Amino acid sequence: MSHNKKALFIIFGGTGDLAYRKLYPALYKLYKNNYLNENFAVIGTARREWSDSYYQEVVFDSIQEIKKSDEDAKQFASHFRYQSHNVNDTENYISLLKLADQLDEEYDIEGNRVFYLSVSPSFFGTVSSHLRAENLITKNGFNRLIIEKPFGTDFVNSDALNNDILESFTEEQIYRIDHYLGKEMIQMLLALRFGNPLFKQIWNKNFISNIQVTLAEDIGVEERGAYYEQSGALRDMVQNHVLQIVSFLFMNEPESNDSKSIRKAKVEALKDLKAINKENINLNFVRGQYSTSIEDSEILDYISEHEVDPESDVETFVAGKIESAHENWEGVPLYIRTGKRMRTKKTQIDIVFKQTTTNFFPKNEVKNNILSIHIGPDEGLSLQLNNKKIGHAFDIEPVHLTYKPSADAPDDYERLILSALTGDKTNFVHWDELAESWKYIDSIREAWIEADSPLYLYEANTNGPKEANELLENDENNWFWN
Ligand code: NDP
Ligand code: BG6
Repeated sequence: MSHNKKALFIIFGGTGDLAYRKLYPALYKLYKNNYLNENFAVIGTARREWSDSYYQEVVFDSIQEIKKSDEDAKQFASHFRYQSHNVNDTENYISLLKLADQLDEEYDIEGNRVFYLSVSPSFFGTVSSHLRAENLITKNGFNRLIIEKPFGTDFVNSDALNNDILESFTEEQIYRIDHYLGKEMIQMLLALRFGNPLFKQIWNKNFISNIQVTLAEDIGVEERGAYYEQSGALRDMVQNHVLQIVSFLFMNEPESNDSKSIRKAKVEALKDLKAINKENINLNFVRGQYSTSIEDSEILDYISEHEVDPESDVETFVAGKIESAHENWEGVPLYIRTGKRMRTKKTQIDIVFKQTTTNFFPKNEVKNNILSIHIGPDEGLSLQLNNKKIGHAFDIEPVHLTYKPSADAPDDYERLILSALTGDKTNFVHWDELAESWKYIDSIREAWIEADSPLYLYEANTNGPKEANELLENDENNWFWN
């Protein structure tokens, strides 16, 4: 079936890593699934002097593992053109306009444009104002601006950046990417929470003991040392992916299933987060940095990585206890942790339900019910229940009900680009969410400085410093996944 969408994509950063690894394969999947067929074209731009044919080879190369056939991949790549372009050069936008109009006509696109900013955030303002000034924004079709993270470095900076972009595009036209919102299991959270009376009734302090969110990575900072030195784990992962998950977990049921209501519920959840300050920071947040005690290891200490200051005290690991001031969540800690060079790649949410003590089952005979949401790399759900062990005796043992989505679920970028094409903003980050999350992150950073919080070294290939376990042990809890 054809769901043909008409659009011209203009990708700034067309020679970059993200475009190659994520954007071209995502566009190809949309093409393969008939969301894009005849009426689309892509202009890749960056400073490098590439020809159209070389660019098409790069695109062809990027989809080797997923292509249906060489013929199909070539046909797809033929929709791509390249323009050498410096984002600061007005002349380049004038020739870009000419090329855009020409492709619009050639592919009968009817003025629909998606501008994808896959470049450094320092260029977001410049590119958007040039797009407006040099008339790349059409009058006859839709014009949408997709922006990559990081969106700023703190609240003040992201507010200024936002105001810059708002001079050229309206909030309605801006699509801020957090690729976690394109993940199958993150989207499933809403269905799970609000589509099942079973969970809907018990998603509160009366039944939930604590919630645990883990975003563990086994890789180090790789080639991104210079960027990471400016961001650290708090800004790279907690400000966006982690707080988005937190807002889904804590939010009240939205008034209806539309992007405005969902956003409102998420913003309220973020506003309810209990304040962090210098008095409580060291009880609630732990910062760590990876190192290795193994000599001649291929794994480096963080401070020995490329473009990292040998004296750097940037955190590559954060664990925290986040609490909501909402009455539904009184006394329910939501523990988070994320880090580089942890034991394995694992993104998981564990909802730990309270134990009930009855005369029938005295305390500790039954385990907690735990709902685990496996976000990646393996996706799925599992629910730990207590069951009778098969045999003559009446012994209790935990069993796990599991669910795995089918392997052909769309991937994150594919889903988000399609949402941008259809104008569905549900899974993009609205400025109001971003503003609240930056305020929370700023309070943590300020408190770390004021309280002179320690940086705990942790051995690579472990799950972080022991202080991250103590955070839970102090509340008589433990990480379920370890
Ligand atoms: P790269 O460094 O690989 O790419 C940057 C791109 O910008 C290149 O195409 C470069 O090409 C171009 N560029 C740099 N300066 C200019 C200029 N003055 N004028 C025009 N083009 C320029 O970065 P990534 O692809 O990794 O990241 C792009 C964006 O996506 C960043 O905001 C990043 O934070 C974000 N992001 C990336 C992720 C990833 O997995 N890579 C994940 C999440 C977000 P040239 O040198 O030819 O000009
Ligand atoms: C990005 C971070 O946003 O998310 C990276 O900048 C991190 O540092 C990546 O590696 C993790 O994403 P995923 O989808 O692999 O969990």
